[in-house]
Amino acid sequence: MTSALISNVLGRYLPTIDYAEGVWLVDTTGKRYLDGCSGAVVSLIGHSHPRVIEAITQQAQRATFAHRGSFTNEPLEEIAERLTTMTGHAGLWFVNSGSEAVEAAMQFALQYFREIGEPQRTWFLSHAAGYHGNTLGALSLSGHARRDVVGNLSHDFPALRAPYAFRDAPDLTDEEYCALLLKEARIIFEKRAHETAAVILEPVGGATVAATVPPDGYWQGIRALCDEFGVLLIADEVMTGMGRTGTLLATEHWGVHADIVAFGKGLGSGYAAIAAVALDERVLTAITQGSGRIKGGHTYSGNPLVAAAALAVLNVIVDEDVIARGRDAAVPLAEGLRALQAAHPIVVDARGLGMLQAIELDASFPTPPLAQGMLASRLAAATTARGLLVYPATGGFNDAVLVAPPLTITHDEVSTLLELLDAALSEVEAEFA
Ligand SMILES: Cc1ncc(COP(=O)(O)O)c(C=O)c1O
Repeated sequence: MTSALISNVLGRYLPTIDYAEGVWLVDTTGKRYLDGCSGAVVSLIGHSHPRVIEAITQQAQRATFAHRGSFTNEPLEEIAERLTTMTGHAGLWFVNSGSEAVEAAMQFALQYFREIGEPQRTWFLSHAAGYHGNTLGALSLSGHARRDVVGNLSHDFPALRAPYAFRDAPDLTDEEYCALLLKEARIIFEKRAHETAAVILEPVGGATVAATVPPDGYWQGIRALCDEFGVLLIADEVMTGMGRTGTLLATEHWGVHADIVAFGKGLGSGYAAIAAVALDERVLTAITQGSGRIKGGHTYSGNPLVAAAALAVLNVIVDEDVIARGRDAAVPLAEGLRALQAAHPIVVDARGLGMLQAIELDASFPTPPLAQGMLASRLAAATTARGLLVYPATGGFNDAVLVAPPLTITHDEVSTLLELLDAALSEVEAEFA
């Protein structure tokens, strides 16, 4: 079968989606797939929720697009009001994707320092391993294999050592590791802070270090360094935000309030391409009382149709206690993944926070070892064949898959997920034994 559609792996056959419901996706041959990774960690509330479909339908019959330069719209105003109240920020700026949210966060940080008379602060610090998006600015912050695509067009910002205890410090206690990470971070702050606008970090590592949770005290320590050196803190909550890890924002686990927060994925939960940046009072006030203008924006940002979808998603999250349900279903999921680690020699780690979980694979299991990332891809192919979707996470140095189903998954569906994953792991082990 040939296709004019360009996909990531050219020539690879992909099934055609027919419909989706709850945690299940069904292709046009009738095959069912359990969505064990919410697409790319997107679908928080599951697929085809009737309240969201109804809201989209109603809005589509009234107005789908009215440019934000000319009109505001009610659902967008309501999301901004409610989310800022929930997070303690002062305002929300809407965009269409996580990458755009990261770019906007960078631009707001740069504008903030221009407005307060420190225009020399133009650099950013991020983790040496991390993923912030597929645009030039976001790739410049990303220690990820994808960055190669843009070669020397990306900026070489200094990088902080990424928390990754499993590989980086297996013999240290959490406290020792945290102290080490912060000590190294301080050295970089001392050297570079005077020219640095912001630190941008994923609260829990996602597409690169696969659900790696930093040691307790790390985020608090980074917040303290930012305050000491006058640097803004940006939390990239594109993957972790909107409840994925068990709290609305993952930074809440450590009691940290970031100056700027990037939202994506779960905000639209697969119903609409919508993302946003939340600004703290200090940042917004500097801009409001300074130039009073934002030189930026994207044509489709915050249009009435995506806003209606995102507001309905927020209503479902709140009214149906989705975050608490995710916390509850994450318990058997995390236990089950640890049991799979104990049962399968190919699994060397199981970790995560809330409904953002992962298993890491032993890349040296096959002899000769496969090229980096291929073992995770092989496992994902084996689970897909059995009707389970998982998300390979590849930083260029590890083989892991993210297991991050919708927060609305039931305990029975968690059991099904674990059974399918168990069988796929046995198949891959037998293949390379
Ligand atoms: C932490 C993080 N930031 C930003 C992005 C980019 O989001 P998008 O793919 O919607 O542009 C991603 C996507 O995986 C992400 O995980």
